[in-house]
Amino acid sequence: MPAQIIDGKALSDKLRVQIASRAAALKRRGKETTLAVIMAGDNPASEVYVRNKIKACGELGIRSLSYRFPETVPEVELIDLIAKLNLDPAVDGILVQLPLPRRLDEQTLLSLIRPEKDADGFHSVNAGNLFLGRPAVPACTPAGIIELIKSTGAPIEGRHAVVAGRSNIVGKPVSVLLLNENATVTICHSKTPDLKEHTRRADILVAAIGRGRFITGDMVKPGATVIDVGMNREGGKLCGDVDFESASRVAGYITPVPGGVGPMTITMLLSNTVAIAERADGI
Ligand code: GUN
Repeated sequence: MPAQIIDGKALSDKLRVQIASRAAALKRRGKETTLAVIMAGDNPASEVYVRNKIKACGELGIRSLSYRFPETVPEVELIDLIAKLNLDPAVDGILVQLPLPRRLDEQTLLSLIRPEKDADGFHSVNAGNLFLGRPAVPACTPAGIIELIKSTGAPIEGRHAVVAGRSNIVGKPVSVLLLNENATVTICHSKTPDLKEHTRRADILVAAIGRGRFITGDMVKPGATVIDVGMNREGGKLCGDVDFESASRVAGYITPVPGGVGPMTITMLLSNTVAIAERADGI
């Protein structure tokens, strides 16, 4: 039997209705949820992401403040802006779109955002609290992945999750979130010998390696839940890290690309932003 598709767009739409109603409840209390978006340079992918984030804010009744800088912006200007936004009680979430121009030190700039306002969950305090199993703003794509897995109704606890990829924004944090959900977690990466040995044992397989169609059906355990984080361009077409055609004949559940993880990332950013505003408002 072919795998059931996990529809990230439908789940995202459902969650966005709930987020919008939380933002509306805050507004009735006189609190306008606000996200500040900082971008430097003109990376075309970042342009699209930022445009989509700002559009989604508008649709959900979240105010967005957009700060755009040229590639040549002096670092001190960004430092001053982050300091100002940190102190502004009207600003709830702050995000710095990555990548920044190479000249600028990403980690240093991200570390200047007040952890309570870190809408992306990239600050080391949030990453550390997540690691410790303490309250934290979670990174958006990993948080979206957990929602997608939960939407199948199949349990996470006690299952073997294999994460292929160890990036700071997906592989590492999603491994920790799965561990916090009581999965048994294996993390694999480009230097793992015989990756297939591991992926074939996964009840939950998260593919976040950045190589188009790398995970094929023979690498998937029958009935597994397969989450494809890949966003690769192949001849102008978007394709995931999973070879959907072969993997969907073996998996129990699978996310498509596009329409799986992608829509959830922005939704979790909006969810984080509203949660930050609720905490600021004492809810
Ligand atoms: N660049 C690519 N993905 C992301 C993201 O989720 N957040 C930010 N800030 N930058 C990104």
